[in-house]
Amino acid sequence: MIIIANWKAYVEDSKKAKALFAESKKLASLSALTIVIAPPAPLLSGLALRNRSRVSFAAQDVSATLGGAQTGEVTAAACAAAGASYAIVGHSERRAAGDSNAVVAEKLVHILAHDLTPILCVGERARDNEGLYLSFVREELTSALAPLSAEDRARVIIAYEPIWAIGKTAEQSIEPHDLVEMTLYIRKVLAELLPGKSSTRVPVLYGGSVEPGNIRELAGSTVDGFLIGHASVDKASFTALVRNIA
Ligand code: PGA
Repeated sequence: MIIIANWKAYVEDSKKAKALFAESKKLASLSALTIVIAPPAPLLSGLALRNRSRVSFAAQDVSATLGGAQTGEVTAAACAAAGASYAIVGHSERRAAGDSNAVVAEKLVHILAHDLTPILCVGERARDNEGLYLSFVREELTSALAPLSAEDRARVIIAYEPIWAIGKTAEQSIEPHDLVEMTLYIRKVLAELLPGKSSTRVPVLYGGSVEPGNIRELAGSTVDGFLIGHASVDKASFTALVRNIA
């Protein structure tokens, strides 16, 4: 199981960052889970550069540029140099800020070029009775993965994050049977995009109001791990989350 703690912009000082990191190290040493922390970019290197623990680090996003005269941009190269080994791409909060499928595909190329493992977020805005949400997710997956080589497609982690379930509570999160349906569908699309059996090795994670109260029933479905936002930035709830599935 992979647990990605997406700190978003909830963590804004190094004291809190260090305390959460210390707790994650403890949890990682006690369980077989892979724990990955995605801090805000300025806090990344302070935690990641001298890291000798089992915890790994992710960038929350990377620039679509290759660097140079691009004030304010944080490139994949800079994230790798700061100690990240993963990078989130296509998060709905970045898509809402303007990242189209084409931009996501471009960022994915930069992430792979710098040997970071991409965590590609996909997910519909709303559910409907005609199955349009399935074609929406298919389009997000295809537009990002189709331009890549077969080898690179197999390096991507998928995070299914329905937008309607993000930032709510466990009660408003996805139902386990709906998550099973979607992960099976994602696996079907991946099987079309990747050769042979390689798609079966691509981890498919879930994100959207994963809390201590629902992580166990969601883990019983077909997912390989979780991308966790608000519940990952409180020490007690992150500990409870990890303990409940470890
Ligand atoms: P949430 O966020 O756990 O706060 O719903 C998940 C995410 O957006 O990655």
